[in-house]
Amino acid sequence: MNVGIDKIGFFTPNYYVDMVDLARARNEDPNKYLIGIGQTNQAVIPPTQDSVTMAANAALQIIDDDNRSKISLIILGTESGVDNSKSGAIYLQNLLSLNKQARAFEIKQACYGATAGIQMAKDFVNLHPDQQALVVGSDVARYGINTPGEVTQGGGAVAMTIAADPQIMSISKNSSVYSDDIMDFWRPINQTNALVDGHYSNDIYQKFFNITIHDYLKENKLQLDDLKAIVFHLPYTKMGLKGLREILPELSDAKQADLLQEFEASRVYNKQVGNLYTGSLYLSLLSLLDNAIDLKVNDKVGIFSYGSGAQGEFYTGTLKSDFKNNLRKQHVESLLKQRKQLNVSQYEELFLRWPKIDAGDFVLDVTNDNAEVVFSGVSGSKRQYKIQR
Ligand code: HMG
Repeated sequence: MNVGIDKIGFFTPNYYVDMVDLARARNEDPNKYLIGIGQTNQAVIPPTQDSVTMAANAALQIIDDDNRSKISLIILGTESGVDNSKSGAIYLQNLLSLNKQARAFEIKQACYGATAGIQMAKDFVNLHPDQQALVVGSDVARYGINTPGEVTQGGGAVAMTIAADPQIMSISKNSSVYSDDIMDFWRPINQTNALVDGHYSNDIYQKFFNITIHDYLKENKLQLDDLKAIVFHLPYTKMGLKGLREILPELSDAKQADLLQEFEASRVYNKQVGNLYTGSLYLSLLSLLDNAIDLKVNDKVGIFSYGSGAQGEFYTGTLKSDFKNNLRKQHVESLLKQRKQLNVSQYEELFLRWPKIDAGDFVLDVTNDNAEVVFSGVSGSKRQYKIQR
């Protein structure tokens, strides 16, 4: 039986900052950000969005009543969770009017959380083919103003339903995993901005990619040539290119050109959003599906997931009959196009308005947020979510 991704929905808030403006404000050559980092725009997350609202807004793109009757597993992968105890998945269940006879919980392992959720959901659906799972990766990526990581911020969510006989992509039975205790990126419990050893994190990412892809190919008796495309966790899009360049010397010139062409398709959306941590890999997959011009049913796609700290996993997906969907593509393009551009001081002002961990009770003005689900503040130490239709 085939199990895999049946539907994909994406959400990012309605503000962005242009990387040329940011480079000028930081006295950097714009080409460092545009080419060296590989980003053109960066999502700016207003205080009225968080990992729960973004997850709900992404899932609302794909959930219908048929899904509501079948989803009995709800997993939120996030590293910017909103509560130390209650999972964001329970808020999601309520906001999306999902079945109450369901398991709902949150997974954390840096940017790897959504992949952990997908693998768990795949095993669940294999055992219960009449049921479905909702897996969402949702995060706000913050490093701080004028830090080296600033150019790699962003945020958003990707929601996926995992089902038997999926419309988009079946997921391989096997995968290759590798983990180790590494301090490349972390966020202490009292902080809203991440700490990072940037160049070290790049090296570990590349190391884990090399280990897991080669192990996967060997164990599954496959060649690199069997992969039509490889999608990467994209903390910034040049990182995926650095990963890809690790294996290109093993390939013919023609295959190198093919994989590079597919890679360009896989970073179209990510270039405009920046890092969304747990969702980044799956936004890249969506970007590939929507923007590649020569993919075919049954093509095999390599998928590399990386979460600092650190966990790597490589698996493959096989494209199914409805992997292309023009309505989905139009929706993503209009979501990105309708965003409001902020100048650098407006971005900094919004960035600094992000609620502090010990802010207590407060009310947020949601009138400028056009998303369906918004965060309107904290009352009696309880987070307040609103659906605006
Ligand atoms: P930096 O030190 O400011 O940048 O930080 P750099 O000096 O290394 O330059 C970056 C690239 O731009 C280099 O290319 C330069 O040559 C190039 P590379 O050697 O990498 O190929 N460059 C130019 N190119 C064209 N024209 C120019 C020019 N000038 C320079 N004029 C760094 C960069 C990424 C380290 C920093 O932004 C950072 O720390 N970011 C956050 C960490 C990160 O994203 N790490 C990625 C791997 S870890 C991961 O993916 C997990 C993560 O998502 C978290 C999680 O799992 O939860 C982060």
